[in-house]
Amino acid sequence: MSKLLVTGGAGFIGSNFVHHVLEHTNHEVTVLDALTYAGNLASLHGLPEDRVTFVKGDITDAPLVDDLFGKVDAVVHYAAESHNDNSLHDPRPFLDTNIVGTYTLLEAARRHDRRFHHISTDEVYGDLELDDPARFTETTPYNPSSPYSSTKAGSDLLVRAWVRSFGVRATISNCSNNYGPYQHVEKFIPRQITNVLRGVRPKLYGRGENVRDWIHADDHSAAVLTILDKGAIGETYLIGADGEKNNKDVVELILELMGRPADAYDHVTDRAGHDLRYAIDSTRLREELGWAPRYGDFEAGLAATIAWYRDNESWWAGAKDGVEAFYASKGQ
Ligand code: NAD
Ligand code: DAU
Repeated sequence: MSKLLVTGGAGFIGSNFVHHVLEHTNHEVTVLDALTYAGNLASLHGLPEDRVTFVKGDITDAPLVDDLFGKVDAVVHYAAESHNDNSLHDPRPFLDTNIVGTYTLLEAARRHDRRFHHISTDEVYGDLELDDPARFTETTPYNPSSPYSSTKAGSDLLVRAWVRSFGVRATISNCSNNYGPYQHVEKFIPRQITNVLRGVRPKLYGRGENVRDWIHADDHSAAVLTILDKGAIGETYLIGADGEKNNKDVVELILELMGRPADAYDHVTDRAGHDLRYAIDSTRLREELGWAPRYGDFEAGLAATIAWYRDNESWWAGAKDGVEAFYASKGQ
């Protein structure tokens, strides 16, 4: 049994990870989360209090971070400003949390000699052409496009430097687009599902040709536990489940699964600097560490996600109007 500190554990992927750890291990978890607009304590509702402790706080708060690192065996770092569209509107919080926050955690990992796993994104590699047979691998050069992805790239490079210069026992994973329960309604899939539930037409940026490589959040969690257990210190692992789909196909599938005509959506203003395609080659994680995704059927996973949003309106309703007002102000 280990004691884990999970930063950002009240967010989408962090809360899915906490649920996964509680179900599949006997670890104890402390969640450190600032409860920004993206954090929601309800995502941790019902978990056993003797195994989960919640601490409201900021990852840039060095004394708090130092205290918490002294009480755990390992740290999994999810906390971030995570939304590209927000980063185009106001980049500053991305620099504070993603860069200074990660630096603050690395300094504590160094002082306390704690195992550290850094959660990152495939967006650090930039994008691919639609017809390019290549996929991202661990050796693809960094080429981020947005304020969000550039701060995530910066945070990855900090981790690498702290491994090499200070011997911090860290690993990094770069994952593709996640879907599943507890995802904020600002993001593509929940935004469209909750639009349909409210009788509003889904909104597709530009022509909808952009491709994302979808993975269920629970598969991401299993991969992270695998890397925490078996990953080699200083190494990077790409996480992906061969789930490439363009946005138009995803919107049409959502409409179909929700009993609406497949063309009942609107094209809206495109995202500035919109990455065209992401695609992950996760051969290393599969062959060296033995991980494999369990949610192979995207349509079934999407149907379950739609059912979750239908059954949990109280979880998302409070955020929906503000998110839609923000998008409307940008013609999206
Ligand atoms: P999210 O926005 O849903 O959650 C982020 C969480 O971090 C929230 O609970 C928020 O309150 C917390 N947080 C933000 N700033 C903080 C701070 N300064 N101190 C403490 N807590 C703070 O994000 P997500 O989609 O769950 O992403 C989690 C991580 O996974 C991020 O590092 C992101 O870059 C990475 N990632 C996300 C995806 C994806 O598809 N969503 C894919 C690959 C990697
Ligand atoms: O690839 C991993 C990344 O995936 C993570 O690092 C990010 O944290 C996460 O937010 C996600 O980034 P994207 O920008 O790909 O996700 P988003 O849900 O914002 O958009 C997915 C695609 O859908 C993208 O091509 C933009 C498009 N889109 C998005 C919204 C919100 C639309 O067409 N309409 C929309 O309303």
